[in-house]
Order: sequence, then C-alpha cells, then structure tokens
Amino acid sequence: MKVAIIGGTGTMGRELARKLSKNYEVVIGSRDSARAKATAMEVAGAIGTDYHGAAEASDVVIFAIPYEAIRSVAPLAPDVSGKLVISMINPMRMEGELFVYDGGAASAAEELAHALPGSKVATAFNNVPPRFFEMETVPPVDVLVAADSKETFEEAAKLVRSIREMRPMHAGPLSHAKVVESITPLVLNLSRLNGTGALATRFVTRKG
Ligand SMILES: NC(=O)c1ccc[n+]([C@@H]2O[C@H](COP(=O)([O-])OP(=O)(O)OC[C@H]3O[C@@H](n4cnc5c(N)ncnc54)[C@H](OP(=O)(O)O)[C@@H]3O)[C@@H](O)[C@H]2O)c1
Repeated sequence: MKVAIIGGTGTMGRELARKLSKNYEVVIGSRDSARAKATAMEVAGAIGTDYHGAAEASDVVIFAIPYEAIRSVAPLAPDVSGKLVISMINPMRMEGELFVYDGGAASAAEELAHALPGSKVATAFNNVPPRFFEMETVPPVDVLVAADSKETFEEAAKLVRSIREMRPMHAGPLSHAKVVESITPLVLNLSRLNGTGALATRFVTRKG
C-alpha cells in the first residue's frame, strides 16, 4: 500500500516517513519535487515527487503541512477523492514563552475536509512529537483519531497500529478534532515548563 506524506520534507513528515517506510511504500510530497527527491534519499525505499504526483499515486494521503497552508492544497481534491486523508495539522503560535492554540471556528481537520471534498478525513499523530518517531522502539502512546465514520476511524487506526506501541483511540467526529489539536500546545508547554523532554499522550485505565 502506498502512503503519501504531503509536507514530507518537514520535521514531522520526514520522521513519520521513516517510521511508516518499514511497512508501507512511502511517497514524499513537496511543493518542490527536487526537495522531495532529496528527502526521499534519506528514507529507505521512499520516492519523492510534487504534491499532485504523491497524492495521485497513493492510497492514503497524510498532510504534515502548516495550518496556514490548508487552502493551498485544495487543487489536490481530485487526487484524494474517496481516499483516506490524515490531518496531523495543529493551528498554534507562540505567545511569550508559551504555545497557544490559534485556529478558527472550525478545527484544522474540518478545514482540510472542506478543502478536499470527497475525501475521508481523520486526525492522527497530532500530539506525537517527531522525537518519538526517531526512536527504534516507541514508548506506549495513545494516538487520538477523530473521524466522521467508524469505517474511516478503522482505516486510520490500522495505519496507527502499524507502528508498534501506538494505540489508536477514537476521539469522536471531526467536529471534536479541535480538542485533539489543542492538546499539542498543552503538551509542548508541559514539556517546557516541567523540563521533561518530549512528551506524548497516554491515558491510564483503573483496573477492577
Ligand atoms: N513538530 C511537531 O512537534 C508536530 C507534532 C505533531 C503535529 N505537528 C503538525 O504537523 C505539521 C507540520 O509540522 P512540522 O513541524 O513538520 O513543520 P515544518 O518542519 O515547517 O514542515 C512543514 C512542511 O510543509 C510544507 N509546506 C507546505 N506549505 C507550506 C507553507 N505555506 N509554509 C511552510 N511550509 C509549507 C513544507 O514542505 P515543502 O516546502 O517541501 O512543500 C514543509 O517542509 C504542522 O501543522 C504541525 O502543527 C507537528
């Protein structure tokens, strides 16, 4: 199965590409195909091309782009029609020493779904720092997947489960994606204020 990473040349996209390339054929997408090819050279088995080529050639398309870039990917709508689209986009900015959520009325995932009608959008990996993907064995992490149908959730969950120790958790419909996205500034602030190093989410269950 082919998985495209749009923005795969960035910090997050590149590390996720390395991880997913162990189980999938990865296509790195960049606005500049030369940059995509250069990044693909660093990811075993991956190829690199422009956004359109990557999205068209793949079964699943992951968006690892800044929030501000969502509208610019609307021309990819025909390429991703009917396909699973993963949004790991978090709208945020720095305010003084801390990160704050900086989205609009809708979540970034809903905005992406609006830009790409006909695709099946789910959130995933929004709260996972790139350092976790760098690790050979990832510590147990819960990956929050918001999606509008059980089928879309299951498709996204399968991709998440392909990374050992990553547990997909259904976080509700896309209208709840804002909650998922806003965990990232919180986690970054927790890490910064408490000197913990990179943090990711894991929910604990009371036994019995
Ligand atoms: N870093 C984290 O800790 C983390 C964790 C989870 C989720 N995220 C989310 O993942 C997304 C990517 O984060 P990142 O840290 O990987 O960002 P990044 O290093 O800046 O990479 C983003 C990539 O998006 C592409 N892009 C497309 N349109 C762009 C534009 N208008 N301006 C700048 N880049 C543009 C660029 O690739 P080309 O120029 O090659 O097209 C760039 O390499 C963000 O929405 C972020 O909130 C980040």
